[in-house]
Amino acid sequence: MSTAGRGPTAIVTGASRGLGLALAHALAQRGWRLVVDARSADDLEAARTALTQAGAEVVAVVGDVAESRHRGTLVQAAGERIDLLVNNASVLGASPLPALADYPLEVLEQVFRINAIAPLALVQLALPRARGS
Ligand SMILES: NC(=O)c1ccc[n+]([C@@H]2O[C@H](COP(=O)([O-])OP(=O)(O)OC[C@H]3O[C@@H](n4cnc5c(N)ncnc54)[C@H](OP(=O)(O)O)[C@@H]3O)[C@@H](O)[C@H]2O)c1
Repeated sequence: MSTAGRGPTAIVTGASRGLGLALAHALAQRGWRLVVDARSADDLEAARTALTQAGAEVVAVVGDVAESRHRGTLVQAAGERIDLLVNNASVLGASPLPALADYPLEVLEQVFRINAIAPLALVQLALPRARGS
């Protein structure tokens, strides 16, 4: 897929609300092309609509950053050149924070998959397409 002639392209994970959506809007106002994701299809569609109305070219991909196939889809959707990767999606885990002695391991595993492994995996996937890398 050729991306020549387009504005810069950013992948922003977790862009359906909060900081990710605010950052996506700021990039949209500056002419960036956006690839955004979130797990909730309805929330992501609302964000895609708002970002498109703000003038951005937006590809919205529903999915979980913890899943390898979804990460591949995000990078493919960005095209041959990725100018910015924002690993914004994250989860809080057990709340209020329990003592480690009591922390449910299946929850901690999920936290590590989303907050630590997925961002690094996306960096590894995106780097070959990053300008100047
Ligand atoms: N809010 C704060 O006070 C604060 C302070 C310091 C740092 N931060 C950091 O800033 C970032 C954003 O915080 P926020 O408060 O804006 O968060 P938020 O309002 O909870 O939004 C999180 C976004 O990430 C998405 N998301 C969560 N898990 C995902 C997953 N596994 N795969 C794909 N998308 C996922 C959510 O959509 P779905 O749930 O539909 O997937 C949502 O779009 C986080 O990394 C957070 O740690 C926040």
